[in-house]
Amino acid sequence: MQDNLTVVNHPLILHKLTLMRDKNAPSAVFRQLLREISLLLGYEVLRDLPMTTRTIETPIQEMEAPILKGRKLALVSILRAGNGLLDGMLDLVPGARVGHVGLYRDPKTLQAVEYYLKLPDHIDERAVIAVDPMLATGNSVSAALNKIKLAGAKDIRLMCLLSAPEGIEAVAKAHPDVRVFTAAIDERLNDHGYIVPGLGDAGDRMFGTK
Ligand code: URA
Repeated sequence: MQDNLTVVNHPLILHKLTLMRDKNAPSAVFRQLLREISLLLGYEVLRDLPMTTRTIETPIQEMEAPILKGRKLALVSILRAGNGLLDGMLDLVPGARVGHVGLYRDPKTLQAVEYYLKLPDHIDERAVIAVDPMLATGNSVSAALNKIKLAGAKDIRLMCLLSAPEGIEAVAKAHPDVRVFTAAIDERLNDHGYIVPGLGDAGDRMFGTK
């Protein structure tokens, strides 16, 4: 297992992932499960957020109580499926700034083509969490990470639901500094760049498109 990889295989996450994989799961159920999983994954991704203390008064006495240090966070959704993880993350950290990177996969070359980029200011001072449910070839994720780094980000984590070994390897090679969190690693990619057994096209399943 690579140093920069964390597999968050909590039973609740794996159970919900199985429900999502089922091809008969309706879009509304798929989206809801993805949102719930993002809360559970987020717990691990945000585990080492810096803390400080604040003096408060409980009904019993004064205490020095732990509180987040207020380090600025940026969540960056890799469109369009990234939005499915973003919603749950915003439930956890409502004050985070949000960026979007729009990339589509050229179906012939499987390479990422950018169509949209909007990132928060001062991204160099922020801990960045890039979110994309599917780490398949790693091409679009690597391209998105390049854009985020070009904007100045230095502290980047990648949060995925499902990964292929090929994608994990590609991101580790191109971005060894990025810590990757995923719920599961499947067998392989098929000839169309889809994860096997996977869950199909996450964007289509979230939004009911084909
Ligand atoms: N993107 C998806 O949505 N699904 C895959 O299996 C691979 C890439």
